[in-house]
Amino acid sequence: MAPLIDFSQPSLWISAASIAFNPTFWNIAAQQEYYNKVITKLFGGNSRLGCYALAVTIFSLGIFRDYLYNEALAAQPTHDLLTSPLVKYSAIPLFLIGNTLVLTSMYALGVTGTYLGDYFGILMDAPVTTFPFNVTDAPMYHGSTLSFLATAIWKGKPAGVALTVLVAGAYEIARTYEDPFTTMIYKKRDEERKKGGAKAL
Ligand SMILES: *[C@@H]1O[C@H](CO)[C@@H](O)[C@H](O)[C@H]1NC(C)=O
Repeated sequence: MAPLIDFSQPSLWISAASIAFNPTFWNIAAQQEYYNKVITKLFGGNSRLGCYALAVTIFSLGIFRDYLYNEALAAQPTHDLLTSPLVKYSAIPLFLIGNTLVLTSMYALGVTGTYLGDYFGILMDAPVTTFPFNVTDAPMYHGSTLSFLATAIWKGKPAGVALTVLVAGAYEIARTYEDPFTTMIYKKRDEERKKGGAKAL
């Protein structure tokens, strides 16, 4: 029987490395910004410009990761179970749901909200609770994971399913850093607002 995954393909490992690298990179960059203002300093003290630059960087890394993923899948064996029409066409709703979650959450958050603006001190007026944040607590990550899975199924590649599990794991690890940070920073802001409000009285 042919193997499900061809581990001898370098492209598989390169794709896995880029999947693990991206959230690691943006978390380190965001931490460096929050504690040392590294990116803001790089952009002459303009934190909004720094955040946009980080956004462009993260977005580009994402495109590159997707490219490497597709390259990796091209070199991998397909499996009959995934190429049956019923399974194959289930990729379409998965892809649509995934992309809807990603695009609508970007729309709801805006550029700075999507790309770690809170680490730059750029906060939203209030945490977003409208769609898609009322259907999942991490629509960007869940939507992206679904899109990876959809691609794997559409192409009939077990290796893609394995890489999707890695994507989900990388996002879960990222969330263990990001979610408590976001909660903390908004709590801090609310406390400051309360103090400010008391002073005004
Ligand atoms: C989420 O919000 C949208 C409108 O923003 C609404 O149409 C939808 O029913 C809500 N879904 C849930 C599960 O509450």
